[in-house]
Amino acid sequence: MATLPPVRIGLLGLGTVGGGTVTVLRRNALLIAARAGRTIEVACASARTLDKPRSVDLRGITLHADPQAVVDDPTIDIVVELIGGIEPARGLVLRALANGKHVVTANKALIALHGNEIFAAAQARGLMVAFEAAVAGGIPVIKVMREGFAGNDIQWLAGIINGTCNFILSAMSDEGGDFDEVLAEAQRLGYAEADPSFDVDGIDAAHKLMILASLGFGIPLQFAKVHVEGIRRVSREDVAFAARLGYRIKHLGIARRQAQGIELRVHPAFVPARAPLANVNGVMNGVMVRGDAAGPVLLSGAGAGAEPTASSVVADLVDVVRALTSDPGNRVPHLAFQPDTLENQPILDIADTETAYYVRLHVADEPGVLADVTRILADLGISIEAIMQLDSADDAPMVPVVILTHVVKERAMNAAIARIEALPAVRAPLNRIRVEPLA
Ligand code: NDP
Ligand code: HSE
Repeated sequence: MATLPPVRIGLLGLGTVGGGTVTVLRRNALLIAARAGRTIEVACASARTLDKPRSVDLRGITLHADPQAVVDDPTIDIVVELIGGIEPARGLVLRALANGKHVVTANKALIALHGNEIFAAAQARGLMVAFEAAVAGGIPVIKVMREGFAGNDIQWLAGIINGTCNFILSAMSDEGGDFDEVLAEAQRLGYAEADPSFDVDGIDAAHKLMILASLGFGIPLQFAKVHVEGIRRVSREDVAFAARLGYRIKHLGIARRQAQGIELRVHPAFVPARAPLANVNGVMNGVMVRGDAAGPVLLSGAGAGAEPTASSVVADLVDVVRALTSDPGNRVPHLAFQPDTLENQPILDIADTETAYYVRLHVADEPGVLADVTRILADLGISIEAIMQLDSADDAPMVPVVILTHVVKERAMNAAIARIEALPAVRAPLNRIRVEPLA
């Protein structure tokens, strides 16, 4: 990797997302530098209360109580705004741009309400403003909409785009949880906005919907025109009736192109229980976009929280650093990492992979057979999660047995299978299918 000096960033805010951003930048520093082409260094940061105890490692970062000290620092290349709300965030972002600095922000309220002004200021100075973290936390939906869907006429998009609302509705549905208690839990986990009425009254989702609709339909940001309803009037009774009717209640942001114009609406909705969005639960977000060419595409993932949101902030930082660093023809490395950082790492033989297994075998219906099978598994250190002997069809002499194992090395499983198939009471070959929890 070229030995260019580190890119110096200044963080405005060291709360949930600011703290997560420092943590991710530190933990994955080498990987991030290999992708970006340069080291990213958090040079300074601001917070309201400097002596607040923080779980993040702030060594080497100059701290300021005055955020203007960050945006006015002439050694800073990129300002990352993670304060939230309109002022002082708006003034600081505009001042950072006036000072010739690129900006990364997670602030959807700021973009939805003042994005037109901020983008014009950035464009006038040839600067970048990146805001992936502003919509759907860790899901790279802005990049997908802006780049992946560039060839499509987007017909509609619908999303669960407020993690706090989804967390509350999911808890009401799964555990019959109390609204205030679940909201308090979302606040404790850092999901909720500084003013949680922004979440439960739908305003936060409307900010995000406005941004997505602008990206999808090529319209200026015009937040005041979004129809907004929150979840306060959804009762546990409604949730229960929805379930009985085969639906789930989800808080959705919907933007749809019609011949006469564009629908922009945020409200609770009945969604068929089998629909993909109905199964996006807890703090997860899901956005479904329908393009005329791509058809419907579903993106889902964590919609809030320190590290998922930091993942998007850092992705934006890498984008800006690449643009600052590489020659324009090679802005994004073909294989994501800078070519001179690619390294040969061993690719494992299938026998060295680790999964759980479903094994189906047919055994003679006689005493001791299952004991022989389980002894072989135990001898090879394979632990059983479940074992089931099924009824034989028409009193056939062989009965089906199904075993689910815990995670094991494939080599051990191969040895076990060879020994089980060699038992006289077992009909070979047995059938095995790997179990992938995908967690
Ligand atoms: P927090 O409230 O956790 O952190 C805000 C930070 O900004 C704190 O460090 C605070 O200082 C500082 N701050 C607050 N007010 C001021 C002020 N007036 N002047 C200077 N500094 C100030 O917020 P989050 O990290 O949760 O959110 C940050 C942004 O990210 C918001 O725009 C939010 O909408 C967005 N976002 C949040 C997500 C989440 O899961 N939390 C997900 C996606 C986006 P101090 O620490 O001293 O109080
Ligand atoms: N308060 C927001 C939510 C944070 O709950 O989704 C993520 O934008």
